[in-house]
Amino acid sequence: MMKSKSLISIYDYSKEEQLQILDIAEHFEANPVQTILNDYVVATLFFEPSTRTRLSFESAANRLGARVIGFTDSASSSVKKGESLKDTILTVSNYSDLIVMRHPQDGSARYASEVSPVPIINAGDGANQHPTQTLLDLYSIKKTQGTLENLQIAFVGDLKYGRTVHSLTMALCNYKATFHLISPTELKLPSYVKQHIKDNKLEYHQYTELTEAIPKIDILYMTRIQRERFSDPIEYERVKNAYILRNEMLMNARDNMKVLHPLPRVNEIAEDVDANDKAYYFKQAENGVYVRQALLSSILGVK
Ligand code: CP
Repeated sequence: MMKSKSLISIYDYSKEEQLQILDIAEHFEANPVQTILNDYVVATLFFEPSTRTRLSFESAANRLGARVIGFTDSASSSVKKGESLKDTILTVSNYSDLIVMRHPQDGSARYASEVSPVPIINAGDGANQHPTQTLLDLYSIKKTQGTLENLQIAFVGDLKYGRTVHSLTMALCNYKATFHLISPTELKLPSYVKQHIKDNKLEYHQYTELTEAIPKIDILYMTRIQRERFSDPIEYERVKNAYILRNEMLMNARDNMKVLHPLPRVNEIAEDVDANDKAYYFKQAENGVYVRQALLSSILGVK
């Protein structure tokens, strides 16, 4: 169904297509090592730093038998000499069957998909979207809660610049979530995302304090304050320690509640939370491999 189709925004996939990817990911979790992509080359072009997204895509491709090419720093590529994004994509598409790209500019992935003869997977474009993270977040939520429907979800931290929050909020509107939005006033969720919640006739509640929401929720989705997106470093200094989750703060949480974080964390989850059975963020990062195996095989049309 999604063969050869680029994945740029979570809205490129219907609810049914999202659920289909989660089902395929479950199959790869049970059988992670296969040879179905033996004849394929996957390119990973990372114009911005990454640990999880790049390495889990490369792990996913390798575990399916594909070869991987690419760069982890555009300064080591001909972009440094002034080559355009269009020329880079046209060139790399000669060497690969699919391109995974992360880029600092909002809209860059959509543009790349318009000029590319091979499918593009958006691995994060500026503060806009991170749809593969959203799919692994949905997978993690479904796995821990047994359902995606009618859940109480709290997002905490940098809701303005956090692209994972934007994509996941929009996806969860398909599943009738109620949203608890916890951020400093200057880092609130953008209006267009809140409008999307309203358009779906769903509720959101905004807070500046973290503790108030904890007893009411199924998922606590922590995020890092995105230093690299602030134009004023003084502004970053003012909000950088706004929320720090500590183990004792989870005492009144529901039994089923899990703590998610797209990672990397800076200081927003204290290390004493890691041993709590509600901490799910490292397993969430592992789930990225299975979801990305599902995406690579589906988009390349290989079962
Ligand atoms: N979650 C995520 O996108 O992590 P990386 O920046 O390490 O890829």
